[in-house]
Amino acid sequence: MDGECRLPGDKSISHRAALLGAIAEGTTEIENFLYGADCLSTLRCLKSLGVGIEQDGSRVRITGQGPAGLEEPGEVLDAGNSGTTMRLLLGILAGQEFFSVITGDDSLRGRPMGRVVKPLLQMGAQIYGRASGLKAPLAVIGRAKLEPLVYRLPVPSAQVKSALLLAGLYARRETTILQPVPCRDHTERMMVAFGANLRVDPDYTVHVSGDKPLRGQRVEVPGDISAAAFLIVAATLLPGSDILIRRVGINPTRSGVLEALNLMGADITPCNEHCTGGEPVADLRVRSARLRGVEIGGALIPKLIDEIPILAVAAMAAEGVTVITDAAELRVKETDRIESVACELRKMGADLDTLPDGFTIRGGKPLQGASTSSWNDHRLAMSLVVAGLATGSGATVVGDADCIDVSFPGFAELLDGLGAGVEVLSD
Ligand code: S3P
Repeated sequence: MDGECRLPGDKSISHRAALLGAIAEGTTEIENFLYGADCLSTLRCLKSLGVGIEQDGSRVRITGQGPAGLEEPGEVLDAGNSGTTMRLLLGILAGQEFFSVITGDDSLRGRPMGRVVKPLLQMGAQIYGRASGLKAPLAVIGRAKLEPLVYRLPVPSAQVKSALLLAGLYARRETTILQPVPCRDHTERMMVAFGANLRVDPDYTVHVSGDKPLRGQRVEVPGDISAAAFLIVAATLLPGSDILIRRVGINPTRSGVLEALNLMGADITPCNEHCTGGEPVADLRVRSARLRGVEIGGALIPKLIDEIPILAVAAMAAEGVTVITDAAELRVKETDRIESVACELRKMGADLDTLPDGFTIRGGKPLQGASTSSWNDHRLAMSLVVAGLATGSGATVVGDADCIDVSFPGFAELLDGLGAGVEVLSD
């Protein structure tokens, strides 16, 4: 592979810019917004809540309604496949005095929502749902003034943290969130940029109160490091590669994949480092390299949780054993990513065992192309495409690959444009 590229905007940051823009005063202009299905779900829900949204190329203009200006939706809000849409929006809906119902696709309706619902109930919102309120569809009757909360996150989840920080904007007094292990902090950075009263202690405890109005901003969304990870691993594994990926977000709470790949022996050079909207950004030059097995676990896991499927692909091509632990959260992602990744990579000859919280992968074994399935999980689909590039013989077909549009529209074309040899088949 060779050449350079720019990536679609970061998914987490695109969601947050739209959500904060909706409850801010004034206009928010978002550049390089991710037009993936997940972020489009957020825009669709916001439109149903009466938010003015104009889309123009990769730019989105949001007319802020102020904290109390959202309208009761006349229809069920549909978050599609997007956990971020559902969980973060629940934090905002908890602060609205009207009735709303939110649901999602089969995968999202099976994912745990109690982790957000329970603390929001403690703040005084009324939320009802399937499985005693633990699963969507969820019905919400919020309150204009919520009770403040001091809450220790039971799982290192940025979606839970963000939902509670958003609800904290509607609380009578300061809300405090304690994080035993730090997880992505885009919400904190963006709330500060929008003028919120938010501070973070050295031990990552976050305090927020709603006594300062949010002001609409111009947000330039960096390229998504989770999308970059697929290109980085592909270039690393394909001999003779040398690519440059421009303007990738390298927020330290998100860039664990770079740390892990560096440990494995990858050749990744960041250059042109700068900051935009409080988020660090860099161009990444990636050259092919031989990888070795490593141990990945502990506090690194939340910083690379979405990249574990593609790290598993890197591990199957590496010399030696890779052990990934402390990642039980993978079981409640878009699919059970421990089972789905293991099942599909085994079809290509991967030698691996699943653990309750990760994998043991014995790399460097001969791999062959295979007919695989995405399980309708976008990150599994892209991981299998990259795995297919790394096999020694035979073509790989990834079925149901249109789910890639959830987070990386244009993935196959971009990869192919860099010389990787990927073809999109019509059904
Ligand atoms: C996200 C947080 C992570 C991540 C997801 C996006 C976010 O989920 O897996 O893809 O934007 O806050 P959790 O917070 O559930 O770990």
